[in-house]
Amino acid sequence: MALESLKPGRNLALELVRTTEAAAMAAAEWKGRGDKIGADQAAVDAMRSVLSGVEMDGIVVIGEGEKDEAPMLYNGESVGTGEPPATDIAVDPIDGTTLTSLGLAGAIAVIAVADRGAMLNPGSAVYMEKVAVGPEGAGIVDIRLPVDRNLTALAKAKGKAVSELTAVVLDRPRHDDLIAEIRACGARIRLIPDGDIAGAIATAWPESGADILLGIGGTPEGVITAAALKAMGGDLQGRLWPRSDDERAILLDEGHDLDKILTLDDLVSGNDSFFAATGITSGDLLRGVQVTSEGTTTQSLVMRSRSGTVRLIEATHRQEKVDSITA
Ligand code: FBP
Repeated sequence: MALESLKPGRNLALELVRTTEAAAMAAAEWKGRGDKIGADQAAVDAMRSVLSGVEMDGIVVIGEGEKDEAPMLYNGESVGTGEPPATDIAVDPIDGTTLTSLGLAGAIAVIAVADRGAMLNPGSAVYMEKVAVGPEGAGIVDIRLPVDRNLTALAKAKGKAVSELTAVVLDRPRHDDLIAEIRACGARIRLIPDGDIAGAIATAWPESGADILLGIGGTPEGVITAAALKAMGGDLQGRLWPRSDDERAILLDEGHDLDKILTLDDLVSGNDSFFAATGITSGDLLRGVQVTSEGTTTQSLVMRSRSGTVRLIEATHRQEKVDSITA
């Protein structure tokens, strides 16, 4: 094969991982300090600073909220150097702010990037019902079906018994019935206090031991997860979940279809999306930031949907760099 035909296009994710590494290292300084706002601000500042040097004309579609509440990485903010390509950006400098502030497992720093106009803009849609699976469950599960049907079909596709499946569920009172249904099927449950992006990605990451994510979590987190699962060959289906009649009316007014089953393509269209995540505190998916005698280490996942390449990147950062990020 001619070498020219092997020439890969630019993989933005390989540059974006520096933004999540920076956010994770900045956030890790705040680990266990009981201050989630301080941790989030440190992660946002670090991510924003590194992002400004990435060659792209990015618009934040999913960020830290509206401009007046968020001085940086607000929805609609332009980021990057301003040169092509024109991109949509979704950031979550800390998914698991409470986990970080309490020093608990599973917090990650995340970014996803896609072509301009490719990402669903969640608007006021705070929550979404989700079913996420790895490649063996893609095309097998269906959010409209009862839990037992999905677990039975997934177990068959994975060549396991239902009792050998592990379902990841956010530990919330709204999931009491769901938890009872899963238990009635005999499957295991991994109840997570927070962090359903890592929970969903874990279903496509064999070492994590998770098979399916079920339940209601953040809509922005759902869009970011879609970028990762697209690259991993997994699946995510969602349905918006308004908390009240007022919220329902607002979402309808914004043009959302509340009955629509949102597929991976509805959440992130096209086939050139990029995803990077770095562990802040160690969890089932990624090791957290660690300080060693050689420097500060990070572990990150880096993915591109077009090629389907998933990289696990370990890095050691010199103290001067860490000091400049956390300053
Ligand atoms: P934050 O880090 O922004 O607090 O989000 C954590 C998280 O657990 C997400 O992973 C999840 O999608 C969402 O919160 C669930 O929302 P809620 O905590 O309101 O149930």
